[in-house]
Amino acid sequence: MPEQQIKLYYKNVMADAIGPEHGIPKTELGNLAVKIKPLISGLKDQIAGGKTKYGNLPFDDNIRAEVERLAESFEDRCENLVVLGIGGSALGNIALQTALNPCMYNFDDAQRSGPRLFVFDNIDPDQFASFLNWANDKLDKTVFNVISKSGRTAETASQFLIIRELLIGKLGHDGYKNQVVVTTGFGKDDNDKPSTLLKIATEDKLPTLEVPEHVGGRFSVLSAVGLFSAAMCRIRIDKLLEGAGDMDARVTCEDFYKNPAAIIAAINYYFYNHGKRISVMIPYSYHLKDLADWYRQLWAESLGKKEDLNHGDVYIGPTPIKALGVTDQHSQLQLYLEGPNDKLITFLQVEKFDRDLTIGPAPESAPELSFLAGKKLSQLFNNEKTATEYALRESQRPSLTILFPRACPHTVGQFIYLYEAATSLTAALFNINAYNQPAVELIKKATFALMGKPGHEDLAKQIRPLTEVDGKFLL
Ligand code: PA5
Repeated sequence: MPEQQIKLYYKNVMADAIGPEHGIPKTELGNLAVKIKPLISGLKDQIAGGKTKYGNLPFDDNIRAEVERLAESFEDRCENLVVLGIGGSALGNIALQTALNPCMYNFDDAQRSGPRLFVFDNIDPDQFASFLNWANDKLDKTVFNVISKSGRTAETASQFLIIRELLIGKLGHDGYKNQVVVTTGFGKDDNDKPSTLLKIATEDKLPTLEVPEHVGGRFSVLSAVGLFSAAMCRIRIDKLLEGAGDMDARVTCEDFYKNPAAIIAAINYYFYNHGKRISVMIPYSYHLKDLADWYRQLWAESLGKKEDLNHGDVYIGPTPIKALGVTDQHSQLQLYLEGPNDKLITFLQVEKFDRDLTIGPAPESAPELSFLAGKKLSQLFNNEKTATEYALRESQRPSLTILFPRACPHTVGQFIYLYEAATSLTAALFNINAYNQPAVELIKKATFALMGKPGHEDLAKQIRPLTEVDGKFLL
């Protein structure tokens, strides 16, 4: 039995709890258990055969050793670590850092033992230029981890070319080589092309880490993609992988009622087919908040598909939304409670916070606040979650809870692997491919065309008219 096991609580999706009109009848869950059983066996076989897109990562000691070796080599000469990447090449890094390092990590030297971490998963010039101004006199202590599996994504490539020129100009070629780590695919991509980033890294003699060939971006957080920045920032990646490895046994368990990934998949599938096509994740924890962002991409890119596996048009996919407890009780919950009953809510909750505060005494003039005085802030936080859960239940709105004993590497590793497996199983129920993203590729190509990349001239001609503003429609 693992030291800290995350748990799934799903009573509040059942018809017994929220009524037959909106809840799942026990018999329906039983039917789903039968439907999903061969899919669990399929997933189990794929993982055992080393054929899943992510299933081997928790057990790959070579990746971990390589990441730790490289991270150690930067130990004394990195005060700032900058991740340049986008989508699956950034969201996991952000989620791990928020989940597993102190909330004030970047701002308080006493609270961190690794470098400050900055992740630029956008190319807003105001933001990136401001950062580079700040870093300008610290470049010899700043390491850039450029992450792109394809090695050709325009956003990351542009960021890289900016910092490459800057570093060579400031530190010379040898200095530049010391400040950059490239994480990219070593093989050929789906279009049979090798990574451009790898080509440059090889020419420039930069250290490189591999994005394993069979692992897609959004499933890559437990590879060098997510592990290097985590290890640099002193996150226990061994515990993270151990947690994911422990979850492997649970998500491949053929007893549906003991398999949390299968239950999450079945519940999401059921509600999608019963008019609840929006899936909202609400962490009641600052540490867990960016896991909801990671989940949003995982779910959207994996499950939002036009075609099923038989190439029939299905236009399928639950819409994932992230919200935050308690903040969104004062923003989104009015809609979730009284608007259309079209959502499944998934709460993330921690039982034990690393830190806590006692609420101070109420002044005599405000006796109406004395019910709070002397209580823990964590008690208020978790009671607000229970209050929200209760209100949803009263309004016949389904909710699930993933309960974390604590936010620590072991539980976060479990959560990541749980949701990766739940994504695979949900995709299998929908009979779609979870691992491609053809529409994202189209945007990438259209960007190439608009930016004048050779070979994209015809596409550029098709798009150009859209870039001309029609004054009739401009106010
Ligand atoms: O999940 C995915 O595959 C995508 O979100 C990619 O991670 C994203 O498009 C970035 O691609 P790349 O790592 O090739 O730059």
